[in-house]
Amino acid sequence: MSPHVNAFFDAATNTVSYVVQDPQGSSCAIVDSVLDFDHASGRTNTTSADNVISFVETNGLQVQWILETHVHADHLSAAPYLQDKLGGKIGIGDQITEVQNTFGKVFNEGTEFQRDGSQFDRLFGDGDSFHIGQMRADVMHTPGHTPACMTYVLGDAAFVGDTLFMPDFGTARCDFPGGSAHDLYRSIQRILSLPDDTRIFVGHDYKAPGREEFAWETTVGAQKTRNVHIGQGQDEDSFVEMRQARDATLGMPKLILPSLQVNMRAGNMPEPDQNGDVMLKLPINKL
Ligand SMILES: [Fe+2]
Repeated sequence: MSPHVNAFFDAATNTVSYVVQDPQGSSCAIVDSVLDFDHASGRTNTTSADNVISFVETNGLQVQWILETHVHADHLSAAPYLQDKLGGKIGIGDQITEVQNTFGKVFNEGTEFQRDGSQFDRLFGDGDSFHIGQMRADVMHTPGHTPACMTYVLGDAAFVGDTLFMPDFGTARCDFPGGSAHDLYRSIQRILSLPDDTRIFVGHDYKAPGREEFAWETTVGAQKTRNVHIGQGQDEDSFVEMRQARDATLGMPKLILPSLQVNMRAGNMPEPDQNGDVMLKLPINKL
């Protein structure tokens, strides 16, 4: 089974969102949507999400699922906006509770912020499956970048979020709270145990030295042979050493504080203050 996959690249955050369609019908899922956010002004807009909506409507698709591979730290999710316009259930990995616990503390959220994942419609565990029309989707827990990262495998297509990037770019950082380079290595080995011709759709692309175009689709076979961090049977200790050294040089993503506050609520803004205005927090010296 080979689903139709359409990609939507957001140049502002280097994020790739996907619409994945059951090849035997009109059912689809949306993976890792983007709500545009201008940090300087604090304004959101829905240009990226509206592009996805117009694709879905033009092609007469039925949205069954709005999937997150993880709680993103570099863009806001448009899941609630898309759900309002198109329907579908919002799903994420069940370890979201760990992420909510960690960041519930960082942002000093009160008890009204539920840490049980109840903001989402479905929490997936490792080995769970669900359907998009006639097409079965299998869920793999692939922690490392975050503790709650999931890979969704639909027929010959795997949506790996921020585990593997394109072979010439490598892998995702593991230095956010709850991240682990050891876990990422083991998660990647599980992804690489899928058939070599499995199509891999990555969550971000930043180009790479010698490559002028953005790219987001590769294969398990290409990752095994050419991934600059993990290819050619790279061993765990060398990978972890490389990953940790590289992570130590990286600054925090520009949108990490807004993104986490919104995405840990399934893409919803915090409750408005007593004037009815929505505020995000900027914790000082916490990250
Ligand atoms: Fe991420």
